[in-house]
Amino acid sequence: MGNILITGASGFIGSFLVEEGLKRDYPVYAGIRRTSSREYLKDPRIHFLEIDFSSEEKIVTILESCKNLGIRFQYIIHSAGITKAGKKEDYFRVNAQNTQNFIQALAQTGMVPEKFIYMSSLAAYGPGDPLTMNPVMLSDTPNPIEQYGKSKLEAEKYIRSLDSFPWLIIRPTGVYGPREKDYYVFFKTMSRGLETYIGSRQQILTFIYVKDLVRLIFDALKSPIVRRSYFVSDGREYNTQTFAAITKKILQKKTIKITVPSVIVKQLAYGLEKLYKPWGTIPTLNTDKYNVLSSANWRCETDPLLRDFGFIAEYDLEKGVSETIDWYKTEHWL
Ligand SMILES: NC(=O)c1ccc[n+]([C@@H]2O[C@H](COP(=O)([O-])OP(=O)(O)OC[C@H]3O[C@@H](n4cnc5c(N)ncnc54)[C@H](OP(=O)(O)O)[C@@H]3O)[C@@H](O)[C@H]2O)c1
Repeated sequence: MGNILITGASGFIGSFLVEEGLKRDYPVYAGIRRTSSREYLKDPRIHFLEIDFSSEEKIVTILESCKNLGIRFQYIIHSAGITKAGKKEDYFRVNAQNTQNFIQALAQTGMVPEKFIYMSSLAAYGPGDPLTMNPVMLSDTPNPIEQYGKSKLEAEKYIRSLDSFPWLIIRPTGVYGPREKDYYVFFKTMSRGLETYIGSRQQILTFIYVKDLVRLIFDALKSPIVRRSYFVSDGREYNTQTFAAITKKILQKKTIKITVPSVIVKQLAYGLEKLYKPWGTIPTLNTDKYNVLSSANWRCETDPLLRDFGFIAEYDLEKGVSETIDWYKTEHWL
């Protein structure tokens, strides 16, 4: 089996990609930074490759040294990226510019793999229409509503502009599972007996459990399909109340419901952003975050996953949240 390089291997999704690769007997190269945690990368079969994506030249040096050692990558999954940033420019530097640097370095060194999977996001297309509530379709015109999604779209545009580059773009909706730190805040709040909502408007949410996502990615890797993109969810739809009800049932907790009016959250986000502006940084609650949290329609088209890869999610939200909460409890996160 050919070598596979997984960038962002130290991250939540990256560490599960590494595990799936090892499970399928691929020689796995974990692309990390010097400073990256190896907490979830302890399997002795893992090869490590430190990559600094900040310039094409630096990546070329690393790829050349791989070549000199006779190491080539049949497959690459580029999962390195940022979902949160202190500054707007960071999104574009890491998600878009670094991706471009990487691909140019692969081309320059003659190291273009048989398949290059780019981990994009549903955010690159933005939410669906809140009036029709139709799902976001592959044929839609992308309309990201925040900087993160815009930076992912910029990377996608570059990748799609390349002639004969063997790309596949994967756009997951919200990914949850063990080791994850954002949905974790929601589980933690619920475990403390608080159930918070922004406004009273119904929201349709979609999710994908990390183990289903990585299984799909490896099935897509083996398939002959290239130069296509896919949205990924478990194929079901939920609303904020169902998500909370499932969590409460699994946690066996009674909660107090608190609904903060959207206008207050919006003003707070706007105010905090203004406050942080002189330092050029973005607060955790910002207008982008508000836009994402308050969007009504996160449905997306998933039929092509079944058609092209026979993908059916094994985990619905209840099964996935149950396994996730078990993990948080075992690890004393909850
Ligand atoms: N989680 C989701 O719900 C979700 C949904 C859709 C798409 N995605 C995409 O999936 C990918 C992985 O996300 P995740 O949830 O696993 O995030 P994560 O846990 O934050 O992991 C991000 C990974 O990217 C690496 N990274 C960040 N900045 C880097 C840089 N400048 N140079 C090299 N490596 C860098 C991190 O390395 P360090 O450990 O050294 O920081 C880490 O390994 C991202 O591209 C994200 O946009 C995530």
